[in-house]
Formats: sequence, structure tokens, C-alpha cells
Amino acid sequence: MNNIETVELKKISNNGSDLCYLELGKEIDFEIKRIYYIFSMQVGLKRGYHAHKKLRQVMFCPYGEVEIEFDDGYKKEKYLLDSPNKIIVINQGYWREFEALKQNSVLCIGASDLYDEEDYIRDYGKYINWIKEQN
Ligand code: TYD
Repeated sequence: MNNIETVELKKISNNGSDLCYLELGKEIDFEIKRIYYIFSMQVGLKRGYHAHKKLRQVMFCPYGEVEIEFDDGYKKEKYLLDSPNKIIVINQGYWREFEALKQNSVLCIGASDLYDEEDYIRDYGKYINWIKEQN
């Protein structure tokens, strides 16, 4: 999908454990103003069902496995976060639905702005109209 990028971060291993990092100007080109995370995720219970008009995000899964389906109004594509060193960098404007493939998965999100319900489109029909206006 255009403007959705998967990056595999380098792992730094020490004393049997691993460390990853991402930095402004390298993996992401927007400042993170908010971090939130979804945890205790139950297999098969989907969430999301919205798009953001302006918000840009980076997603990663430090525990478990999460599948995210992005939709640009014309096509859908599934992305898998199945390792703590994988990140997905997402531009604004994509409808998303996601679900855990493993019990108790954790999905972390770094967002380019503060929470603003006005930035959400939560109705798929409205999303399709909105995306067509953008093109
Ligand atoms: P939402 O983004 O719809 O979650 P998901 O995409 O996982 O289904 O958020 C769920 C609820 O939490 C919604 O009522 C808005 C609220 N919320 C905040 O108040 N602040 C936040 O930063 C976020 C992400 C959500």
C-alpha cells in the first residue's frame, strides 16, 4: 500500500535479551505527541473500524501477534506485526481494522497528535465519500 511502510528495526542483543529503538528523522518523519496501547487483546475480536483525516502513526507489537488490514478506499491489504522489532509507519487517510492472532497481544501506537475525535471517520460509507473527495 502507498504510504504504509513496514520497517524491521535492528535488534541490539545483550545478556540474552534484545533492544530496539526508532528515531525521528530515521524511521519516522513526524514527532510523536501521544503514545497509547491496546492490551489484553482477545483472539478474533476486531477493533479499529475507523480512519484518521490527519493523524500519522507508528504501530508496533511488543508482545503477541496482531494483524492489521488497511483500506485506501480502493483496495485492502493485510499487515502482520509478529515480532517486537517490526514497525508499521502509516500516513493519514487509511481505514483500518485489526485483530490479535495470539491471546493477550499488545499493540502500541505512537501518534503525531493529541487525541481529537474530530480527526476520526468512524463510518465506512462516509470514509469512502471522504477519500474520493481527496483524490
Ligand atoms: P479508538 O481509537 O476508537 O480505539 P480502537 O481503534 O482500538 O477501536 O478508541 C477507543 C476509545 O478510547 C474511544 O472512545 C476514544 C478513546 N480514546 C481516547 O480517549 N484517547 C486516545 O488517545 C485514544 C486512542 C482513544
